Amino acid sequence: MIAADQRALTSRPVRLLGLCGSLRQQSRSRALLDATGLVTGGSAWPGPVAFRIFDHLGQLPLFNPDEMALPSAHVLALWAAVDDADALVIASPEYAHGVTGTIKNALDWLVGHPPFAGKPIAVFNPSHRADHADLSLKETLRTMAADLIPGACLRIPVTACDLSAQQLSSTSPYRELMTEALQAVVRHLWERSDSPGQKGQPIEHSKHLNAKETA
Ligand SMILES: Cc1cc2nc3c(=O)[nH]c(=O)nc-3n(C[C@H](O)[C@H](O)[C@H](O)COP(=O)(O)O)c2cc1C
Repeated sequence: MIAADQRALTSRPVRLLGLCGSLRQQSRSRALLDATGLVTGGSAWPGPVAFRIFDHLGQLPLFNPDEMALPSAHVLALWAAVDDADALVIASPEYAHGVTGTIKNALDWLVGHPPFAGKPIAVFNPSHRADHADLSLKETLRTMAADLIPGACLRIPVTACDLSAQQLSSTSPYRELMTEALQAVVRHLWERSDSPGQKGQPIEHSKHLNAKETA
């Protein structure tokens, strides 16, 4: 990471962007992302994280490479949101042993968008049983040169329960799994900003996390 990025990371909250692969109103994947936002905003979370969800994956046109030069407003909004984020958090279900069209379409729009390469990403598998989509999603992300964050790609099995986002954010093991993943994201961002010979200052909540871990 370049020095300007290092300085930026020390002086503002970490910015996380959630992408949900389901458009369903009662989506469990969405509930998981909403819960993640609640965890980052909760009193037990030790530092400043700005978490938002990109709400317009359903409005993206079907990917057409011909339109990359003159993209729609929603595609531009997706690109801007991704550019602005320090890391992405993806939660997406499995449909017929594959990823959903929703998430694949969004990713296709990002293949030719250079700032996506190297973007740190946490992948939450929301299912207790689905493995095909999870593996396929990660394969696609690796192919797109995404930076899958070790320790932040977790199975957080919410599809078979009916807890609300609020309940998930305060119930074991969901709360602990989300916290573990978020801590891994923050640690990873800090390590990326810490290039040899050019050590940056820890972002404030990294200090808190370290203190918590060694307590
Ligand atoms: C069309 C369709 C296909 C599905 N295929 C699978 C599947 O292959 N494997 C699986 O574990 N679950 C499958 N499911 C179950 C979904 O993963 C589950 O309903 C999940 O909660 C959907 O995610 P959401 O709640 O975020 O919408 C399928 C559901 C639908 C609607």
